[in-house]
Amino acid sequence: MKIQSPPGMRDLYPEDMRLQNWLFDAWRRASRAFGFSEYEGPIFEFLDLYTLKSGAGIVSELFTFQDRGERHFAIRPEMTPTLARMVAARANALPRPIKWFSVPRMCRAERPQRGRLREFYQWNVDILGVEDPLADAEVIAVAVEFFRSIGLTSEDVVITVNSRPVVSAALASIGIAPEENERAFELIDRHDRLSAEDFAKLWDEAYSDRVSSTRLMTFLTDTRMSACLEMAKCAGEEGRAAVEQLHALWERLHQLGVRDSCEFDLKTVRGLAYYTGTVFEAHARKGGLRALMGGGRYDDLTGLLDGPRVPGVGFGMGDAPVLEFVRDAGKLPQLADDLDVYVIDADHTLFPELLALVGLLRRSGLTVDFSYKRLPVAKQFKQAAGRHARYAIVVGAEYTARQELTVKNLDTGHQLPVAADRLRSDARDVLGGV
Ligand code: HAM
Repeated sequence: MKIQSPPGMRDLYPEDMRLQNWLFDAWRRASRAFGFSEYEGPIFEFLDLYTLKSGAGIVSELFTFQDRGERHFAIRPEMTPTLARMVAARANALPRPIKWFSVPRMCRAERPQRGRLREFYQWNVDILGVEDPLADAEVIAVAVEFFRSIGLTSEDVVITVNSRPVVSAALASIGIAPEENERAFELIDRHDRLSAEDFAKLWDEAYSDRVSSTRLMTFLTDTRMSACLEMAKCAGEEGRAAVEQLHALWERLHQLGVRDSCEFDLKTVRGLAYYTGTVFEAHARKGGLRALMGGGRYDDLTGLLDGPRVPGVGFGMGDAPVLEFVRDAGKLPQLADDLDVYVIDADHTLFPELLALVGLLRRSGLTVDFSYKRLPVAKQFKQAAGRHARYAIVVGAEYTARQELTVKNLDTGHQLPVAADRLRSDARDVLGGV
C-alpha cells in the first residue's frame, strides 16, 4: 500500500534541507546582529494557552489531542503564547530589555496553498519589557535587514505599518464602535484571502447598517495617514498616545535606515486578538503571495497568564512563504554539500591504509569521503568532482614505493607528491600549499 505524506506537510530531501538551513542561517545572523538571544519552547501546550487570547483566527486552526489523563493539548500554531508564558514565569528575574528570537516548527490546520502549509517553521523575533516605540522600530528593522541580507530590497518587499488605536479611531468615525473591533479586525485581516463576494457577505451581515463593505474598503484604502492621525487625536488619551507613538516609530525607522521599506496602511490590522498597538506585515510588492511576515505590539499578554505586565512587540515570518518569494524573485542560492577532500583508491591492496588516512583527516576537522565501490581511478575523480571536493588525495603505487601520496587541487588542477607522514601530521597546511 502506497502512503503519501499528509496534506500540507513536507518531506525535506537533502536539497530542501540545504535551502532550509541557508534560510535559518540568514535568520539567525540577522537576529544576532541586532543582539537577540535564541530560545525554544515545547512543541505542544495546554489548549487553554491558545483559547485564552489568540482569537478565533488561530483557535479554529489548531491540531488538538488528549493524553491518557484526558488533558487537552494543542500542537503550537504560533510561538507568542509560549513566549508570554515563559516570560511571565520569570518576569522579575529577567534583565530588560528581553530581546529573544526562535525558529520553532509549528502546525496549523489550514487549507494548504502556496506559501501556507499545515506544518512550517516560523522565525520569531520579540522584544519584551520596553514600552518605547524604539523596540517596535528595532523588530521591523531586523526583518528589513534580513531581506536585504538575501538580496531583497525596498523594491521587492514592503512593510505595511498601522496602529490598532489609530485604526480603531478611524473605524469609529464610520460607525464601528471599539467593542466591535475584535471581530472587525479579524474580518478586515481576511479580506485579501476571501473572494470579494464572500468578504462582502460576511461584512455586510454584521455591519451594513453602518457601513457597506464597498465603502469600508474605499475608506481603508484612501484615507491618508495625516487624516487618521487627526481622528486618533480626537479619540481621548489613548488615541493621542498612539499618535505620538506612531510619529516616534516613524522617526526611529528613519534613523535605523529602514524607512524606505515601510508604508502606513490602514488595511493592516492583523487577525490575532492580543495586539494592542503597532501592527505590521511584510508583503511582496509583486506576485500576490499572502503576507511574508506579521507582527505587532501586545502589552497585556503576560498579565493574562497571571504574570506581571510585561509589554512586548515582535513578529513571525514563515519559511514557506519566504522561500516561495525568493524563488519567484530568482534569488535562490546555488547550494551544495561540498567536501574538503575525496580520497581515491588507486591500488585496492592499500584500502586499509586509505581508511586509516580518511579517519585521520576527519579527526583533524576536514570533511572527507571516498568511494565504497572499487572503481577505476578516472571514475573516482568524477565522483570527487560531483561531490564538489576541493582536493583529491590518491593512495597508490607511490605509497608502497616511497610512502608518498598524490594531492590534487581540483579547482586549479595543480598536483603534488606529498610524504604520507607530513599529510598525517599537518593536513591543512599541506593542502593549503597545493
Ligand atoms: P501570524 O500572522 O499568524 O502571526 O503569522 C505570521 C507569519 O507566519 C505569516 O505572515 C507567515 O509568514 C507565517 N505563516 C503563518 N501561517 C503559515 C502557514 N500555514 N504556513 C507557512 N507560514 C505561515 C503570528 O503567528 C504571531 N504569533 C506573530 C508574532 C510574533 N506577533 C508577535 N510576535
